[in-house]
Amino acid sequence: MDLEHNIDGPSNRRFVTMEEHIISQQRNHPTATGGFSWLLSGITLAARIISAKVRRAGIIEVLGEAGDVNLHGEQQQKLDILSNRTLEECLGFRENVGILASEELDEPKVIRGSRGKYIVIFDPLDGSSNIDVNVSVGTIFAVYERDTSNFNGSDPLMDVLQPGVKQLAAGYIVYGSSTVLTYTTGEGVHMFTLDPSVGAFVLAQEHVKMPETGKMFSVNEGNWNSFPRGVQEYLKWCKTKEAGPYTARYIGSLVADFHRTLLRGGIFLYPPTSKAPKGKLRLMYEANPIAFLAEQAGGKATDGKQRILDKQPESLHERTPLVVGSKGEVELVEEFMHRHAAQEALVEG
Ligand code: AHG
Ligand code: MN
Ligand code: MN
Repeated sequence: MDLEHNIDGPSNRRFVTMEEHIISQQRNHPTATGGFSWLLSGITLAARIISAKVRRAGIIEVLGEAGDVNLHGEQQQKLDILSNRTLEECLGFRENVGILASEELDEPKVIRGSRGKYIVIFDPLDGSSNIDVNVSVGTIFAVYERDTSNFNGSDPLMDVLQPGVKQLAAGYIVYGSSTVLTYTTGEGVHMFTLDPSVGAFVLAQEHVKMPETGKMFSVNEGNWNSFPRGVQEYLKWCKTKEAGPYTARYIGSLVADFHRTLLRGGIFLYPPTSKAPKGKLRLMYEANPIAFLAEQAGGKATDGKQRILDKQPESLHERTPLVVGSKGEVELVEEFMHRHAAQEALVEG
């Protein structure tokens, strides 16, 4: 979008809001009805509410554990539940949303009385373990289209279990030193910063491109002993003088670790571990949206063997290993994993 043309907007302002950006993007789609921007405005509204709660954590009673355990057996934080409820309320109000699915809901939720054609899947609060120590957390979302022939109320789960390549839109909000919303509808990656003085997400950067390589790796090395041999060998190589050496950065909130990787390049890995043999991150509402953004920015995302977006989900909360970041870095990891998988197979065989 040529920003210059927008300075003659309604009040000679020099900013473009996310809603306006979406509508301008939709102008490229003759079939667009504006329903999509109405849906995404539900997400920006929820994001503003959650951001206000995150920024006042400690003043208002939103810190700490909710005293309940979610379906994953993880202690639910108050902000997990508040964020989930906020998204349900803001999106449930959009008549074109038919099904909601969330990390915090056991099953998909069909919006009563709605013949909404969209499905929204989200991780309402990512990085929960960081909330009480004032480290960046986030929200992750993905939007799919529902199979309209399925309106006769057959199992909504069948509607939801689509491969990531079918996402219509995906994005995240990172509640960091500022609140930044990053999204894609398949036409590049665009970033918006919440301007508290305006109360709107305003365009910060269009067509964000991830650097081809980056000498930075992001992984929880506490799990080193149970990493696949190829990952261990890649990380050992990263630490050699010949490689650079690389810098290590790990925040422990996927959204924050990915946001840095998107802007600076490098690689984020959550490999299989003994505690999480299939990886810890969830395919539907963590890996897929992040993978869509990574590819749209020129990066790559695999589970070490297969492109994340091609994976056919078997269940809503299934986990996957995730290797995402600069194309060159991901391909290097794949090479190390391929080389050592062959050796491991020989050893096992
Ligand atoms: P969530 O808070 O939604 O459960 O997600 C936490 C995830 C992800 O944000 C992060 O990358 C990962 O957990 C960190 O896991 P470890 O603490 O095992 O490194
Ligand atoms: Mn998460
Ligand atoms: Mn979460």
